[in-house]
Amino acid sequence: MRIFRAKTYKDMSRKAANIISAQIIMKPDCVLGLATGSSPEGIYEQLVTWYEKGDLDFSQVTSVNLDEYKGLTPDNVQSYRYFMDSHLFNRVNIDKSRTFLPDGLAEDAEGECKRYDALIESLGGVDLQLLGIGHNGHIGFNEPEEAFEKGTHCVALQESTIEANKRFFASVDEMPKYAYTMGIKTIMQAKKILIVVSGREKAAIVKKAFFGPVTPAVPASILQMHNDVTLVGDEEALAELEK
Ligand code: F6R
Repeated sequence: MRIFRAKTYKDMSRKAANIISAQIIMKPDCVLGLATGSSPEGIYEQLVTWYEKGDLDFSQVTSVNLDEYKGLTPDNVQSYRYFMDSHLFNRVNIDKSRTFLPDGLAEDAEGECKRYDALIESLGGVDLQLLGIGHNGHIGFNEPEEAFEKGTHCVALQESTIEANKRFFASVDEMPKYAYTMGIKTIMQAKKILIVVSGREKAAIVKKAFFGPVTPAVPASILQMHNDVTLVGDEEALAELEK
């Protein structure tokens, strides 16, 4: 695993955006695996800036997102489709028909998971998967103690995840209790993984995930077994790692 130390969130975002932009330049028709949340927001902002300057072209890029809440419509401001449209897709020249997320409104949850895995396979897999990490070590919505060998599946969100994400909803009752997520197996099949972390409150889990034992108790720890992982973190998030 490569670790890049950034000074601030902005610096972290810029370094990570550079890696994504290199991927697009080297393979213009690449498949990007994308994430939502506060960690990648700055990256998308930076990519939009470079696009506006004429330095980046998304016209041949395909994207597949990690996850989506179950039950939210795409125009719900808390849906991950809405997040991606407003932070990136509506602001660059990506072909929207080639931006994919699990369908939060699918009636047949199991069928939707199969469809999403088959879609990723039909695209030839993910070239570069962007990830954030939850305080409990989750990646996507793969919560602690889930089996490592799962593909896309529908999960009941854990109390700690509901607690962390409820700030985005008017009340905790409005927050969906289920979500679709790529599984650990799906994530591990990506050719390259880029994980971004920022803030002091992530320092302990970063140390545990990347320097502790590989265990389903810390889902991100499996990334130690992937042969092409780049971690970009700001000083606070990397504070517990030896320099
Ligand atoms: C988002 C996702 C989540 C987040 C994680 C960290 O698509 O899958 O695993 O990456 O919860 O969230 P932030 O970046 O908001 O701290």
